[in-house]
Amino acid sequence: MTTITMTSQRSERPPWLRNVFQRGWRMGILLLLLVASLGMAPLADAQADTDREMATAAPGISAEQWRQVRSGETGPNYRDSRFDSNYNLINASGETWRQIRNRWVSPFGLIAIGGMIVVIALFYFIVGRKHLDEPRTGRKLFRWSLLMRSLHWTVASLFIVLALTGLNLLFGKFVFRTLFGDAVWAWMISASKVLHNYLGPLFGVLLVVLLISLLKDNIPKKHDWVWFKKAGGLTGKHHPDAGFANGGEKAWYWLLATVGLVVVASGFVLDFPNYGQSRDTMQWANIIHAVGALGLTAVALGHIYIGTIGTEGSLEAMTTGYVDETWAKEHHNLWYEEVKDQAMSEEEIAALKSNSSGDASASKPS
Ligand code: HEM
Repeated sequence: MTTITMTSQRSERPPWLRNVFQRGWRMGILLLLLVASLGMAPLADAQADTDREMATAAPGISAEQWRQVRSGETGPNYRDSRFDSNYNLINASGETWRQIRNRWVSPFGLIAIGGMIVVIALFYFIVGRKHLDEPRTGRKLFRWSLLMRSLHWTVASLFIVLALTGLNLLFGKFVFRTLFGDAVWAWMISASKVLHNYLGPLFGVLLVVLLISLLKDNIPKKHDWVWFKKAGGLTGKHHPDAGFANGGEKAWYWLLATVGLVVVASGFVLDFPNYGQSRDTMQWANIIHAVGALGLTAVALGHIYIGTIGTEGSLEAMTTGYVDETWAKEHHNLWYEEVKDQAMSEEEIAALKSNSSGDASASKPS
């Protein structure tokens, strides 16, 4: 549990009040999140109210017309409605797609992402940051090369831009159109679409490169099941066994290698409609793409939490390329046993850096 150093007033406060002070700022974060999630309620409501949305999107078509169209005889998908002397070409399967998207996919996204934010906040509030059990030794072990770090941060940045633009495509109109008006919203949505469509394939290619580079270290082993049974060390006193990647990291890897690739593949189907795929195929690709991407975004929040404030010493692995011996021993003991004789002091690393044009971790020492 994280503690905050108190001032000299400390001894004058009763323990329960001290507790409130200690937890106060975390409470504040929690309250903010609750208020934010309340703010999301009208958004979910607007998405779920498909008839209200339809009345603005296609004002000429009434429920009566839809009934006529659905009972028509001109083909399974396209019907024309000549009701009321108006001519409307209506795609019935498109309406089914719209219903699935608005009634199921959008609420799923809100629940998955909003739920994950609340779970992370509660976890941080109740369990707190995972600090190292032992003091740091100051000696470092090499973990990520410059090339792997650059690849990781490029894929991560692209993922974040795709997640934000994708969320804007799904929910943005309920927030930004109301806030900024039609002109700004029109600019925002077309910018989101262009960014999403062009960066998607780049992300896909780089994700495949990342997955191939990491495959060797992410093959599931027997001790990974034990890691999960012990909830990664949350239960019991000792950290469960872990190699270069622990059970949680391997799960994240395989989620990206399965769901991530499905999201990329369905994105390609949507990005290149010129290969003869039918409208139905595009609609299914859209649903699969959205569900997969929203689920991944929710899990990515967990990965980001664990990699930053959640675990002491993890972020420096991906920023400097090196980790402290203590971190390695506690979080990746089997890997530590393999590489412990390669530990270096800060001075040795600095000397190595000056000998290898600025970055000691450009290549992995054997
Ligand atoms: C700001 C966002 C992110 C932060 C702060 C972050 C942080 C980290 C850190 C600290 C590690 C190293 C953990 C270790 O050395 O054991 C790591 C590994 C990794 N990250 Fe991220 N990450 C972010 C976003 C992402 C995203 C969006 C993706 C994928 C789309 C991703 C994919 C990975 C993968 C595949 C690994 C390797 C895990 C393994 O070995 O199986 N990261 N990340």
